[in-house]
Amino acid sequence: MKKFGTDRLGRDMLRKLNYELDYDIYDEYDDASVGKLPLLDKPTGKPGFWHCSICTNNNDESLLSCDTCGVFRDSTGIIDNDSGEKVYGKSKDSRASVMARSLFALSPHQMPKPAVISDIFLAKEAVKSHEKGCIEAYFNDLQKTFTSPHCNHSINIAPFKFDTPSPDDIVSSGKNAARNFPKVPLGSTKASSNITGKKEIVNLLPVNEVSNSSSASSSKDNHIDVSESSNSRDYEDAPQIIADDLHRLKLDKNSKDNRSKKASRNVQYKPEKWMLSDQEQGISSQLNLAVVGHVDSGKSTLCGRLLHLLGRISKKQMHKNEKEAKEKGKGSFAYAWAMDESAEERQRGITMTVAVAYFDSKKFRVVLLDSPGHKDFVPNMISGATQADAAVLVVDASVGSFEAGMGGNSVGQTKEHAQLIRSFGVEQIIVAVNKMDLVEFSKERFDFIKLQLGLFLCSCKFKESSVAWIPLSAMENQNLVTTASDVRLSSWYQGFCLLDAIDSLKPPQRDVSKPLLLPICDVVISHFVGQVAVCGKLEFGALRASSKVLVMPSGDLATVQTIQRDYCPCTIAKAGDNVAVSLQGIDAGHVMPGGVLCHPDLPVTVASSLELKILVLDIVTPILVGSQVEIHIHHAKEAARVTKILSLLDQKSGKVSRNAPRILTARQSAIIEVALDGTVCVEEFSVCRALGRAFLRASGSTIAVGIVTRVLEQGS
Ligand code: GTP
Ligand code: MG
Repeated sequence: MKKFGTDRLGRDMLRKLNYELDYDIYDEYDDASVGKLPLLDKPTGKPGFWHCSICTNNNDESLLSCDTCGVFRDSTGIIDNDSGEKVYGKSKDSRASVMARSLFALSPHQMPKPAVISDIFLAKEAVKSHEKGCIEAYFNDLQKTFTSPHCNHSINIAPFKFDTPSPDDIVSSGKNAARNFPKVPLGSTKASSNITGKKEIVNLLPVNEVSNSSSASSSKDNHIDVSESSNSRDYEDAPQIIADDLHRLKLDKNSKDNRSKKASRNVQYKPEKWMLSDQEQGISSQLNLAVVGHVDSGKSTLCGRLLHLLGRISKKQMHKNEKEAKEKGKGSFAYAWAMDESAEERQRGITMTVAVAYFDSKKFRVVLLDSPGHKDFVPNMISGATQADAAVLVVDASVGSFEAGMGGNSVGQTKEHAQLIRSFGVEQIIVAVNKMDLVEFSKERFDFIKLQLGLFLCSCKFKESSVAWIPLSAMENQNLVTTASDVRLSSWYQGFCLLDAIDSLKPPQRDVSKPLLLPICDVVISHFVGQVAVCGKLEFGALRASSKVLVMPSGDLATVQTIQRDYCPCTIAKAGDNVAVSLQGIDAGHVMPGGVLCHPDLPVTVASSLELKILVLDIVTPILVGSQVEIHIHHAKEAARVTKILSLLDQKSGKVSRNAPRILTARQSAIIEVALDGTVCVEEFSVCRALGRAFLRASGSTIAVGIVTRVLEQGS
């Protein structure tokens, strides 16, 4: 099985999150005792206004909490209008966001230990004593308090709507770009496991193989036609998603110039005849299908079982897996072992890197990308899933496990993966409600899961018509490639089986008319013959043997020697294809994951500073100027620092609601600038979506998703 995405994030680096900047927020609480916190407002010098000492906003005298960050004017309590005395422990009225209050309005004894950037708080004794997750409890308490029927206050706690500005974004893993380029050791990519059927590249490159991935898109509901998008149920008041905003982005002069330059280059570019020809007619189109979901939901078992049923895994191999799994006391993982091939994965019983497998359905050549569900390996999941045309979101139906994936009040990986997949631009999704055997194939349980998760998916801006729901059991082979045989399921479910649902997906759009762009997911190097091959999904254009390509960021020219698609040699690869391309005439050390193959005359931009439009996810520690993050753009990742927060955007209109806010909290949308430690190959989102999606991670969590609105500085 091909595997890729082995690089782990350097979390230590991320833990350096600007200590001082974050910390001064909490310094306010140092000497305060419960109910006796210092006043947070300061005189402004302007009559009729008070000055928030947290975010420096000047607020109208009538406001009890800061209009920008939501902190109470006096966090110890509310000034009683009549008596002028403080009334502790209750709120009369506030327009402050609950999250903001949970961040700022707590005493040291109430202060939770944030789950995300916990190290920052370790130095404070007061914070140390608090259990992880108590912020959720506090949040709940607040909700109860403020939403109680007996409560007359006018506070309106709206449920989080991720749909807000969800960009189409992003992501991936890989090595650093230009600045670190010469330091990348040869053969640093992970050796791939052997695969039957892996022909040419394997022969050419016997050592240090690595492989890549691809992706997929689109799904269809069993009951609702995907094409009937007009019937789809979207929340009427749903704030606008970043992707929608793109069309209305107001660009400054430089940005416009830059874009028009790129656009005119695209206009000048004329694809060659062979690129447009339909030489390989009869070959069904490739569908890159990411399999994602919470840890242990059964993704690998589902993939293994599917491949076995479709004859992609030999009986002999299956028998071997079964025997070995039993011997190691992990009999139930026999099918998962078809995907989890490394000793560590098998021993731990979890997937750590993305496994790639292929099968043919009636309509597609499907590239299965089995992602790791464990939260430690989200970057690897991203590396594979960023190329997805569609996704299968696997959820565990058993009691407690589904709930864990939803994460209670925090974000479980069912939610995180769904958010990420959507932000990569994936619109079609199949929800495989797995392990139905553990709940007696109960219709009630299925309906419950559909309702709960359906609401969340809607809030992520998945259209109801583009979500298919399939109850199944991978272990008991129910509803995978044929309709269910177990009467407990077939008595109430007559919809598509998983394979039919995959065939119901809309074929992804491909753009061969634009100049070549192939982001490099992995590099395969043969030290013996000095040859190098790259793996990745062609975003634009086409390739054939003897094509000249520019390898970025090194800027070296190379010639395509051979191309493999689905382990088989092919003559032409076109946009959308996931391929392995062997290159001639280039030093292997000048090719790296995170790089890009481009048209020799039209190099991709290499940037060291970017302007991003982001949507902040469910974070507990705010983003500040100076915050250290890790930025992922396609297969590139780089340490970066937030250098400016330019503006806060109104989530409904997408317009600037405030300039230069000091902090960003959960669910806010903003324009920021980041300076990268190194450089990455990137394009503005309007030029190339795949290379213009970005996401920010810190301390092992995704903290924001977004798009590149401007390249501020180009690297070398
Ligand atoms: P990660 O990749 O680590 O996130 O896990 P995963 O989602 O790939 O789960 P995996 O396939 O490794 O399966 C986890 C456990 O669930 C294994 O013990 C499987 O046997 C079990 N399992 C998977 N599918 C089913 C099912 O349909 N029914 C039952 N009862 N168990 C299942
Ligand atoms: Mg797995």
